Amino acid sequence: MSDKIYIFDTTLRDGEQSAGIGFTIDDKVQIARQLAKLNVDIIEAGFPASSPGDLEAVRAIAKEIRGPIITGLARANIKDIDATWQAVEVAETPRIHVFLSTSDIHVAHQLHKNREDVMEMARTAVAHAKRYCSDVEFSPMDATRSDHEFVYQLLAAVIEEGATTINIPDTVGYAIPKQFEAFVRSCMEKVPGIEKTRVSVHCHNDLGMATANSLAGVIGGARQIEGAINGIGERAGNTSIEEVVMAIKTRADFLDMHTDVNTRELYATSRLVERLSGMPIQPHKAIVGKNAFRHSSGIHQDGVLKMRETYEIMNPADIGVPAGGSIVLTKVSGSHGVRSRLSELGIEPDEAEFRRIFQAFKDVADVKDEVDDRDLMAIVSEQTQFTVEEAWKLDLVQVSSSDHGTPTATVRLIGPDGEPHQDAAIGTGPVDAIYRAINRVTQVTNELTEFSVKSVTEGIDAQGEVTIRIETGERTFQGRASDTDILVASARAYLHALNRSLMPIATAAEHAPAPAPAR
Ligand code: KIV
Ligand code: ZN
Repeated sequence: MSDKIYIFDTTLRDGEQSAGIGFTIDDKVQIARQLAKLNVDIIEAGFPASSPGDLEAVRAIAKEIRGPIITGLARANIKDIDATWQAVEVAETPRIHVFLSTSDIHVAHQLHKNREDVMEMARTAVAHAKRYCSDVEFSPMDATRSDHEFVYQLLAAVIEEGATTINIPDTVGYAIPKQFEAFVRSCMEKVPGIEKTRVSVHCHNDLGMATANSLAGVIGGARQIEGAINGIGERAGNTSIEEVVMAIKTRADFLDMHTDVNTRELYATSRLVERLSGMPIQPHKAIVGKNAFRHSSGIHQDGVLKMRETYEIMNPADIGVPAGGSIVLTKVSGSHGVRSRLSELGIEPDEAEFRRIFQAFKDVADVKDEVDDRDLMAIVSEQTQFTVEEAWKLDLVQVSSSDHGTPTATVRLIGPDGEPHQDAAIGTGPVDAIYRAINRVTQVTNELTEFSVKSVTEGIDAQGEVTIRIETGERTFQGRASDTDILVASARAYLHALNRSLMPIATAAEHAPAPAPAR
């Protein structure tokens, strides 16, 4: 049997602090549910000491999610470790993840300490975490730029104190694969007691080598890979979970390793994270990008039509990528047909969600002859995005626009009081007019910082998917919606963001009084 590589997902911790991401507590719980379906081994649910909201989010995840180990990050101090334990103690299988910088540049300029202090802090922190939890992970931050001898000594010390997982972070994405492999191997050889632990790697993508370095790390002896869905994370992000998982699966012939990830959930997970993070995936993104399984040139199309494997090293079905048009539903399709297609796509909505999905499907099918899997995914995405009451709901949007006059929009919203509220505004364009009219009704002060629209499928009747980002005070919220009418989608996306801004927030970056961890 090949060796198992444990998958540690940090979408909700390292991924969350990407510039511009603002998860709500509800977003985090939704993503954690999907990560459990994906069957990752460990979910790093947040950084509990960074904010009461994040502690609450991690605790909610720890309480609900069964299967994966649930961990939270802590700096090497008593207060952080206590907060982390408070958040994860309710988990079926909790872990505390402690980190401390080891590179001279961090030790001197960020911590204002010396190596002896760091050694002492690391020992004390791990010993303290160990009093609460048998499963303790330790990360020497900026390990790849640290003096290797010092890293070996420090790792030996934390293992003596009871650390069970030793993570080697390439915090600033500095490593070169061959060098990283040798470093991990040297840790395996030189650190006394390391054979009793699981060795992990945590790579950043500053030089575009996070996936390559993670694979080099496991070749060097690591058995856990840390990463985030869609590779989100600080700066250029973290290792993409979908990339390492599919690399291990596709090249099992060479690597002789496997993961327990349910790869058919990768696409749905990627889309959920894309939607809730508001970080669009580039079309040519490996594994989950829109073009990852599209063939454009005649020669390639000819090859794929004759035999898929001529130009595809992976089967899109293994990733859960919906087929682009082979199975279509129409307006005469009944609820049974829609439900069974959803089920084939691995989507099992509850009754209330299904009713909303089916109604939205009917609306789309009324204006579009054929509704394919991509349309269906867009509908599901939108209809399952609110698990809390929407404060403001769109009841009507009407726009008048021409190549001469001034665009005018009228909107009617159902407010938190359950009553209709209506107003109208003019704008520089139809979308601007809609947003001004919505602002007049809701009175939520904000600034629109991003607006983008893309089509879900091809053709003139395609649904348009609108993504927007707004800022209210210090905070950023994204909104997304799709409709065959892009002005309706624009109105709904805007309301989605406004409603999110009215919900409880978990984002560490938005609350953290203390500095967030370097990534
Ligand atoms: O990049 C990093 O070093 C980290 C640690 C906290 C593991 O995110
Ligand atoms: Zn990191």
